[in-house]
Amino acid sequence: MAEQPLLTPYSSDKLTLKNRVVMAPMTRSRADNPGAVPNDLMVEYYTQRASAGLLITEGTYVSTEAAGYINVPGIYTSEQVAGWQKVTEAIHQHGGKIFVQLWHVGRMSHPDLLGGNLPLSASALNPHSQVYTPTGFKETVAPAEMTVAQIKKTVADFVLGAQNALKAGFDGMEIHSSNGYLFHQFFNGTSNHRTDEYGGSMENRARFFFEVLDAIKAAGVDMGKVGARLNPSLDGLFGMTLDAETIPTFDYIIKRLNDYGLAYLHLSEPFTDVSQNKLAEPHIAKRYRPLYTGTLIINGGFDEEKGNKVLADGDADLVAYGTLYISNPDLVARFAQHVPLAEGDKNTFYTPGPKGYTDYPAATK
Ligand SMILES: Cc1cc2nc3c(=O)[nH]c(=O)nc-3n(C[C@H](O)[C@H](O)[C@H](O)COP(=O)(O)O)c2cc1C
Repeated sequence: MAEQPLLTPYSSDKLTLKNRVVMAPMTRSRADNPGAVPNDLMVEYYTQRASAGLLITEGTYVSTEAAGYINVPGIYTSEQVAGWQKVTEAIHQHGGKIFVQLWHVGRMSHPDLLGGNLPLSASALNPHSQVYTPTGFKETVAPAEMTVAQIKKTVADFVLGAQNALKAGFDGMEIHSSNGYLFHQFFNGTSNHRTDEYGGSMENRARFFFEVLDAIKAAGVDMGKVGARLNPSLDGLFGMTLDAETIPTFDYIIKRLNDYGLAYLHLSEPFTDVSQNKLAEPHIAKRYRPLYTGTLIINGGFDEEKGNKVLADGDADLVAYGTLYISNPDLVARFAQHVPLAEGDKNTFYTPGPKGYTDYPAATK
């Protein structure tokens, strides 16, 4: 039998990977606090999964203002960089590659997580969602509309995050511009009612995101080490809804990303059934493969069979697995040996300690 496409090496002028299986970024809330510092338990967790062609870390805060969940690591202090160094060294010792996901949650936060301050967003529009705070789930509030000075400060925070990623030994960094968080809140007209140069037209709604890429480039970071993540058809989750300009805006962003020479573009298929929503695009890989000329990672609801098919069809270069990687640390070998996959326990996705984190055994040698 011919080798599965998922298990074949991948090589572009930016990225050389031993296989096409990517570990998707996943918040697991195990960092040390105070300080939001990566620890030895996290080293163990990522090392267990080092056989992936590429690992993308959990969303990692670029500043204290970026926070929206508890026990999430940061990448803005020297202690955090030192903690991440242990992770990257371990992955490299095991022949793996790892990118860090740089994150600002925007309005998906709460004053309890921000020293009493309001969350920041494009506009003062409450996402009407819930956020997990140190005292349990709380309703979100209306955020503060970011001033231009706050936007510029956040651009600088992402540049520092990118520079610290290289200091920490990461192979690259992914901008978290997906899933209803800060940049996505600027992209969509339903969450961005601004009338200045960051609102209104598609170009204006995408300005902040491209300013971040431009600033990272201007700081001398190799853009071949930078990836970006987008979820164009996110509907009804994390406070996001679509309008008639949403998909055209993503068309614009994705075509423009061709000029940046990124390591990759990471797209997600819709997280919910959007077949009844005429404003959504139900087939993300099919729509965007022809529009994007660089490396394309696709994610969302893939298993071994669907992953091999999307690659064989030529609709993506790499496939990212989220939930399956929680409970199957040796996912690549399980695919290779057709070993049954283990189911993860949702109750321990975000709870402290090794339970449901580093105690899922490998089922292959
Ligand atoms: C526990 C958990 C945490 C997640 N955290 C993040 C995150 O930090 N950043 C991100 O971009 N996506 C995050 N996601 C979304 C996943 O990366 C992925 O897009 C999603 O699980 C769909 O892929 P799957 O069907 O393979 O699980 C998370 C998903 C889960 C289940």
